[in-house]
Amino acid sequence: MTKPKMAVIGSGSWGFNHIRTFYALPDCELVGVSDLVEKNLERVKAQFPEIKIEKDYQKFVENSDVEAVVVATSAETHFQIAKDALLAGKHCFVEKPITLDIGEAKELVDLAKEKNLTLMVGHLLLYHSAIEYLKKLVDEKTIGDVLYIYSQRVNLGKVRSNENALWSFAPHDISIMLHLINSKPVKVSATGQTFLQKRKQIYDVVFFTIYFENGVIATGQVSWLDPHKIRKFTIVGSKKMVTFDDMEIREKIRIYDKGVDASNVTYDSFAESLILHDGDIKIPKINLSEPLRKEAKHFIDCISKQQKPLSDGQNGLDVLKILVAAQKSLENHGKPEKIQGI
Ligand SMILES: NC(=O)c1ccc[n+]([C@@H]2O[C@H](COP(=O)([O-])OP(=O)(O)OC[C@H]3O[C@@H](n4cnc5c(N)ncnc54)[C@H](O)[C@@H]3O)[C@@H](O)[C@H]2O)c1
Repeated sequence: MTKPKMAVIGSGSWGFNHIRTFYALPDCELVGVSDLVEKNLERVKAQFPEIKIEKDYQKFVENSDVEAVVVATSAETHFQIAKDALLAGKHCFVEKPITLDIGEAKELVDLAKEKNLTLMVGHLLLYHSAIEYLKKLVDEKTIGDVLYIYSQRVNLGKVRSNENALWSFAPHDISIMLHLINSKPVKVSATGQTFLQKRKQIYDVVFFTIYFENGVIATGQVSWLDPHKIRKFTIVGSKKMVTFDDMEIREKIRIYDKGVDASNVTYDSFAESLILHDGDIKIPKINLSEPLRKEAKHFIDCISKQQKPLSDGQNGLDVLKILVAAQKSLENHGKPEKIQGI
């Protein structure tokens, strides 16, 4: 079987990671890179001289040798580039968020389906070994039923002028929340504030809460204006509690044998009949592998085996629906918004 030939469109700070990763992957052949900025293309040429570089991405979209493209441009350009690629019969990996508009994302999902092409979205953390481990813990009910989840993704980091902290960071947290909570998200509320780019209404910090049909809530804090660098998930279950701290080098997951048991509950002495248990903390050994490489390999595998990606276009659309509702809530000072059709 021949290796699929690929092109990466967008070689900015994140796109370059895709170039490095797909180039090193033995299952495909990275033949081209496109970017509008000459300096970015020169950087690619200097490191990977055999890769063809073009300012105009259409050169790769129109090239019948190219089977798949990676779209790692800024979010507002994802739709047009991915649409052109799918129309030309290319499998397509699109960075998160899939698009900025629900109708446009739906169009991409339908187009991929109609043309029998792979459409995958860059929800990178779904390919993190620690998240795979958490998923197993949740599905096997090791921690009991999930009661609530909260996440923090904060940093003093890259301040964007074309999207706010919600759109920049929360796709990761939302994709994990949808992955772990086996229920339909129904409502979202979000509050936040603009400090650095008030005129453009770019929110630097956002707090959001997603309400699920089964009563689980998942809340997230995202910010690029924070003294700490935190990338942490906490899951409180009915039997145990677990944290995933991505800033830890090795001990990323901790399972706390902590909880509250309700036994022999009678109506008037409910509080007294609750028994706290506070046991050991387990730190499981997790074989960590680079999520970006796993994500890239999954894309290639899905193309060659004609399988549905874990983060397929529909998953990108679901995350987008929550982002859109959260943005609306943000602009309405936290008024909860219904999430349509997930
Ligand atoms: N999965 C992750 O963890 C992760 C992390 C960071 C960024 N991202 C996503 O990756 C995408 C890119 O982010 P970034 O930080 O690299 O942004 P960036 O601004 O550094 O790079 C974007 C690049 O796209 C190029 N570009 C724009 N329009 C183009 C076009 N029509 N043809 C060719 N090139 C074009 C720009 O010249 C620029 O170099 C965004 O969607 C972002 O949300 C994902």
